[in-house]
Amino acid sequence: MNAQNTGLYEVIHRRRDVRAEYTGAPIPEDRLRRILEAAHAAPSVGLSQPWDFIVVRDPAVRRAFHDHVRAERDVFAATLTGEAAARFAGIKIDGVLESTLSIAVTYDPERGGPAVLGRHAIADAGLYSVCLAIQNLWLAATAEGLGTGWVSFYREPFVRDLLGIPDGIRPVAWLCLGPVTHHQEVPDLERHAWRHREPVERAIHHDRW
Ligand SMILES: Cc1cc2nc3c(=O)[nH]c(=O)nc-3n(C[C@H](O)[C@H](O)[C@H](O)COP(=O)(O)O)c2cc1C
Repeated sequence: MNAQNTGLYEVIHRRRDVRAEYTGAPIPEDRLRRILEAAHAAPSVGLSQPWDFIVVRDPAVRRAFHDHVRAERDVFAATLTGEAAARFAGIKIDGVLESTLSIAVTYDPERGGPAVLGRHAIADAGLYSVCLAIQNLWLAATAEGLGTGWVSFYREPFVRDLLGIPDGIRPVAWLCLGPVTHHQEVPDLERHAWRHREPVERAIHHDRW
């Protein structure tokens, strides 16, 4: 394996979903730009590039989002009982206020239409493309030494209203981004015994399911 490949694998395995380790320090503009360019370099069905990135710095907007996340956390917590409820109570699910900024990533199903090459049979292929942009962003941020955290404790209409996202365009992710003290070696959910990453053998099949 050459040195370049080693670097990529190292970043893939160092990447974490970060909630608690943000310092709140500024992100230099050139680094943010590189990260967004990496996201924009993702593959997309029919080269539709159906993503947009809303960089949210406004503390009032982030606070409003955070209040909503807290309420949705309570909604989820109310579905839990016993040991799961106790475990979840100790798990931090976002770093919206502590991170430097947020990036909301959206999906426009009309982008590149009406005939998106490769999407006629699988409508979700557009959404998959946005997720690849998010993963590129996440890995690039890790390579830049920054932390990223995906927050999905929200209702889409709330985020659409909060950020003025036009009808028909879906918010896909709210990402927290910023410098961190360190990346944890073990995912938070494993450290809190919520779930464990399974051996890859569990996921590999040969010739048939
Ligand atoms: C689609 C998606 C949504 C997620 N939503 C949240 C979330 O709302 N809050 C949170 O703390 N982590 C969230 N995560 C992070 C996962 O919990 C995390 O990726 C997983 O536990 C594995 O940890 P790792 O990313 O550090 O390897 C989300 C991840 C994905 C891919």
